[in-house]
Amino acid sequence: MAQITLGLIGLGTVGTGVVRLLRENGDLIEKKTGIRFRLKRIADRGIHAFREFPLDGYELSESAEAVLDDPEIEIAVELIGGYEPARTYLLQAIERGKHVITANKALLAKSGGEIFALADKVGVEVGFEGSVAGTVPIIRILQDGLAANRIEKVAGIINGTTNYILTRMAEDGLSYEAALAEAQRLGFAEADPALDVDGEDAAHKLSILATLAFGVRPERGDIHVEGIRGLEQADIRFAKENGYVLKLLAIGRKTNGHVELRVHPALVPARHPLASVRNEFNAVFVKGDASRETMYYGRGAGQMPTASAVLSDIIEIAERALHAPRGVRGVEGDRARKRTLYWSADRFLPIGEIRTRFYLRFPIVDAPGAIGSLTTILGRHGVSIAAVHASILDAASARGQIEILTHEAIERSVRAACAEIAGTGILREKERLIRVDE
Ligand code: HSE
Repeated sequence: MAQITLGLIGLGTVGTGVVRLLRENGDLIEKKTGIRFRLKRIADRGIHAFREFPLDGYELSESAEAVLDDPEIEIAVELIGGYEPARTYLLQAIERGKHVITANKALLAKSGGEIFALADKVGVEVGFEGSVAGTVPIIRILQDGLAANRIEKVAGIINGTTNYILTRMAEDGLSYEAALAEAQRLGFAEADPALDVDGEDAAHKLSILATLAFGVRPERGDIHVEGIRGLEQADIRFAKENGYVLKLLAIGRKTNGHVELRVHPALVPARHPLASVRNEFNAVFVKGDASRETMYYGRGAGQMPTASAVLSDIIEIAERALHAPRGVRGVEGDRARKRTLYWSADRFLPIGEIRTRFYLRFPIVDAPGAIGSLTTILGRHGVSIAAVHASILDAASARGQIEILTHEAIERSVRAACAEIAGTGILREKERLIRVDE
């Protein structure tokens, strides 16, 4: 029976899941693939404190070099996370002719170009199915399943932490702070939740999806990012009353030779399949010119779901490595699949140029003519109103608010109108702007 030798760097949550899955399902995987997967070495700084199960049969080391230096290891699996030393380990493994697998979205978003270029040069493969939406095989879908399509749109709920918080706010009426505290208690949010709640984690994942969907290589500044901090029950209430659900979406859209990339809270029609994605679940909606609408759903994080994605990379790369004609390792084109990742010259659309519908809420001082002047200003900027609802919150202090749903408009025009409205002095506080994603 064919055998592939593996080395694992990082025995944290996901690394432990990979070892566990290999132990529990190794025989089944062997039956299905005809390949024996031999995990030879595990490297982790805290390896000797590991107590979850016996690590008999593996060669253990505190240092990654043990994996990197072992010529027998054909696939190196990096699961330590973070930027450095993960980047250096991956590059060293590639230089030494090993195929590599990672679930490290932050690293790929920042240094994917460097990593893929070196892998191409050396002739090895990079597996990264675990880097976006955990167990959901969205990388495979974009690279293979929908490969024949021009992708028109990708819209994902690809951060489980924020989806959990927004679900609790919508279903239990919790404030943002209370929902975050609950997510932290249940282990769905980190003690420092910034990366998730500010949208950065979703932006890392969107960057990877954008490369596969549109052939582009975005820098961080090419993606507009807003998180969920500061969302209120008033936003949720408006969504409910108007047939929407409030979600943190990562959107990639191709429009007239441009690619727009953005992460922000969005009103999703309640009938859209993304609206039914609750709690910590993830889903990615993809529209191709031939496939039309498709959607993929599952757990975006967690030990075994992410381990399942990592194992799928191990199996796929092993099958290709074993079944491709053998040659001298390290020679270009030798055993690796060749796919051009960055094939597009499309430019990125600045956020001001996007065209969508908007929900606007203006906290106003209730004064004669307030509604009239506000709607007139919007009209002057070419922003057409689809629905308007004005209410007095407190007659004694003359506090009111005006909620508006616009038709499609250019964001730059909406922003200019909002600035002019603020200049009239009728606002008590800054307006709320939430984009609608139909
Ligand atoms: N906090 C992240 C999430 C972890 O919930 O999606 C996986 O990237």
